[in-house]
Amino acid sequence: MDRQVIEALKQRLNIVDVVRRYVALRPGGGRQMGLCPFHQEKTPSFSVNEAEGFFYCFGCQAGGDVIDFYQRVNGLEFKDALEQLAAEAGIELKAYKPDPEYDARQQLKRRCLDMHGVAQEYYRRNLNLAVGDAARTYLRRRGMNDEIVAAFGVGASPDDWQGLATFLRGREYTPEEAVQAGLLSQNERGRIYDRFRGRLIFPIQNLSGQVIAFGGRILTDGEPKYLNSSDTPIYKKGEHLYGLFQARQAMTRSKRAILTEGYMDVLSLHQFGYKDACGVLGTALTQDQVKRVAGFCSRMALIFDGDTAGRKAALRSAEMILQYGVSCSVVRMPDGEDVDSLLQKHGNEGLDACLDAAQDGLDYCLSVVREGFAPREIVSWANGFLAHLADNSLRPFYIPRLAQGLGLAEADLRRFGGGQGRLGGSGPQGPQGRAFAHQTEARPSLSGGVAQRMPAVGRDERDDRYFLRFPIQYPEYIPELARRGFERLLTTDFGQALWRKLAQVNGGDVLPLLDAAEKSFWTQTRSKEKPEGDELAQEWQHVCRRIEEAGVRKSREELMEHIRLASSQGDAVEVKRLMAALTDLNAPSREEE
Ligand code: CTP
Ligand code: MN
Repeated sequence: MDRQVIEALKQRLNIVDVVRRYVALRPGGGRQMGLCPFHQEKTPSFSVNEAEGFFYCFGCQAGGDVIDFYQRVNGLEFKDALEQLAAEAGIELKAYKPDPEYDARQQLKRRCLDMHGVAQEYYRRNLNLAVGDAARTYLRRRGMNDEIVAAFGVGASPDDWQGLATFLRGREYTPEEAVQAGLLSQNERGRIYDRFRGRLIFPIQNLSGQVIAFGGRILTDGEPKYLNSSDTPIYKKGEHLYGLFQARQAMTRSKRAILTEGYMDVLSLHQFGYKDACGVLGTALTQDQVKRVAGFCSRMALIFDGDTAGRKAALRSAEMILQYGVSCSVVRMPDGEDVDSLLQKHGNEGLDACLDAAQDGLDYCLSVVREGFAPREIVSWANGFLAHLADNSLRPFYIPRLAQGLGLAEADLRRFGGGQGRLGGSGPQGPQGRAFAHQTEARPSLSGGVAQRMPAVGRDERDDRYFLRFPIQYPEYIPELARRGFERLLTTDFGQALWRKLAQVNGGDVLPLLDAAEKSFWTQTRSKEKPEGDELAQEWQHVCRRIEEAGVRKSREELMEHIRLASSQGDAVEVKRLMAALTDLNAPSREEE
């Protein structure tokens, strides 16, 4: 089912059009080149091959098709990337698999999104009407300019119990479905009314810019100060970040994400030029959020209050970021200030001083643990940290640093949490092993963060990679190579697995079948010069000869084995016959040399 969708999608979507939204591309050397969004660089080594529909970075070796790109740059699960791209390309996923429940869910989601669009229109409109006077005054008093208010779509809900309810009814939405969408509320007596009243409204957007929820700040002294949408078919608390839609492009440029707590903090940060800032939305930072942001940046700056609660939250957040393989720093606010008040009082200078004084996230964690934890808590914290790494390939990085920072033995840390057996494995297990476990599901994909697993390249694998260039660059030769016994040439699991996949699709689109390392190698190889003319003929002969030699070698080994067996059984006649065969086998290759 997926394969058909993937095929249809790749036919309709031009990878260059999609990449261009995130990366400025310029033609060069028969392809499009730009600055890689997946690692930090100053000269472009990121290439997009439009004709063949893949990207490859000569700097960090990231490579894949348009779905891989979209998934990675947006920090999405494969299924979600597929769904969003399919929607964009106008491909109905259901056409491939009739599923009434899925259809109903999609229909419900679409209605909810539409209603949120209507609600947003209503709140925005109010801000410029007389009912929005209080909200406009409030924004001005808080120092927010029109540009920022427009960029974030800030609006106002009047102090009216039936305002949005009436507006939605005018657009043919029933009050019941608006309750389901979380826009209206219903009391025990069944009465339906506006959820947000007398508030400044902050729309929460997904990565496509659609409004999926709202936050509302009270304009008077009432309670609660902030009211947020509850969970709905299109919004789950802890999955999204406020302002990520506005910030993501700046993030891919700066490679940094500033994470803060409040709505107003995000607005202020953007207004003061920190366009790579977003908000964690009233909960503690979650793993879903880390994953989502990690697609855009390689380090996160965590802003937190200096009080005890703030310190504790910062420890947990920093831990999660580091476990995902992204670096972080911890930015402490002066007592009694938040980012917004700091910026309004002391401007960029005030915040820059805090950013400069920020502590490295790992150092921060280690110092909090070292200074505040009992010995047995220290040991269990270290073990827990290692057990919940998003990718075990991060262990060699953290083990010496944890050991050093906490006064533990590396060997003890190494023994814990599955140790060697799980190296290169699929991720954390154990009692709390849910951490990032979903990262490895579905199709083999580029791993989200920096934690991309690269197999060690020994001599044998280098040979296999060398031979595999041929079927990758000249897929039309695959049937002939298969007929001649190409697989005999390959001596590693990597080489044989890749060859099987190439032979399976026989010149068709192989990318969806490949894992991260294979994708990287395939796109790299397709980006290299191909031998042409005489050089091609020579290469072809060389590969054919090597296949033959590999065949001869194999036969020789088999003969030798038989000779050993026959002589151990004292069968002199058989030994003689086999020796003759061995001589024949060796003869032609000797003449050749
Ligand atoms: N928050 C929330 N619900 C509340 C209180 C707070 O969701 N009842 C979230 C909001 O996202 C809020 C953030 O926590 O922005 C931080 O709250 P707080 O520090 O109390 O407010 P500020 O963001 O400083 O808001 P303001 O500057 O408008 O007073
Ligand atoms: Mn504040």
